[in-house]
Amino acid sequence: MQLNFSKKSPHIGLDIGHSRIKVILMERTPLGWKILNAVTAATPTDSMSEGVVTNPAAIADVIKALLRDHKITATLADISVSSSTVVVRTVLMPKMSEEVLRKSIRFEVGRYIPNNIDDSYIEFEIIKDAPDNQMEVMIVAAPRDLVNSRIAACELAGLEVDSVDLEPFATYRSVIESDTLYGWSEKTLALVDIGARSTKVSVVSNGKFMMTRAIGVGGSTFSEALSAFFKIPMPDAEIGKGQLDLSNLLGEQTTDNPPLRVLQPHLEEMLRELRRSLNYFQAQANENISQAPVTHLVLSGGGSMMTGMAEYLAKKLDLKVLTIGVLDNPRFVSASSELGSGLDLAVASGLAMRTIAPLVA
Ligand SMILES: Nc1ncnc2c1ncn2[C@@H]1O[C@H](COP(=O)(O)OP(=O)(O)OP(=O)(O)O)[C@@H](O)[C@H]1O
Ligand SMILES: [Mg+2]
Repeated sequence: MQLNFSKKSPHIGLDIGHSRIKVILMERTPLGWKILNAVTAATPTDSMSEGVVTNPAAIADVIKALLRDHKITATLADISVSSSTVVVRTVLMPKMSEEVLRKSIRFEVGRYIPNNIDDSYIEFEIIKDAPDNQMEVMIVAAPRDLVNSRIAACELAGLEVDSVDLEPFATYRSVIESDTLYGWSEKTLALVDIGARSTKVSVVSNGKFMMTRAIGVGGSTFSEALSAFFKIPMPDAEIGKGQLDLSNLLGEQTTDNPPLRVLQPHLEEMLRELRRSLNYFQAQANENISQAPVTHLVLSGGGSMMTGMAEYLAKKLDLKVLTIGVLDNPRFVSASSELGSGLDLAVASGLAMRTIAPLVA
């Protein structure tokens, strides 16, 4: 038994999404995690662009109000970024210690990163040894303004940022790594988070994170298309979108439903990009014959709540599709029944899990 006088200050998982800001506070239980608070609010219009917070004060006001209204007193936040401008690559490098690589990382990764290195934050993880005295390293480069603008919003809200993660890593932690139902450690799957502005697709093979990419189509793309075509305000387009069923696009004949016809090219764009990502993974995997192909697609994010989305993707991509929220996993419990399955909470949960306060001994 250990006395625990200095109980660690609680952290919140904070997901600043393009459509909703989510805050999660949780604690460990002997069997998993208990969600103490999971609260969300609309992201102010025109306060974010391509992952960058363009109006930190407006975002800070929303975060402050969320914390105040729900009596959340945490002052430390774990946040994340995601954008098509974040580069994640697994590369081969000469074998060296982590310490040595840390010193030379900027020099080593220069040729893999299209952005200016000085304008990027660089992180890496050594994955494993490779033949010819080499090693596999996953490198992540995130533009500084992407990260700094989010930190600025948090600081204005009175929060100290303890860590900055990648959204897909957080989703992986809460949906795949903590799962006990599906046996993901023996499968190859695509983890797909359909957000408002983008869809994040990652491949996880035998429990190992292989690649990730952001596709510039999401739930807002569909609502905006409806709003523009029918000349209706966005809130009405959102309601209209909620009444559509994408499985009606799967029949033999082309649909005569006008809103579905408006969405069709955008859905096809999303499919094209998903296929491209999976083909890219497969092409790389073919160099390694022991790599099994993707068989499952695991959906999360608010956009995955569109009726018929899972059926549509399953048929078009010929994969088994599962829509999994954090609260579908029995290891997560919540005091509130209002959260549903928590489909849009995967990122915030994964962030909250990062530096969760230990069980008091
Ligand atoms: N019941 C529903 N039916 C259809 N769409 C829904 C439903 N609920 C939420 N959405 C859509 O989900 C999207 C928001 O999802 P989410 O909160 O995951 O996005 P975000 O994290 O804010 O965005 P991003 O990940 O791009 O930063 C919106 O486009 C919204 O219209
Ligand atoms: Mg999101």
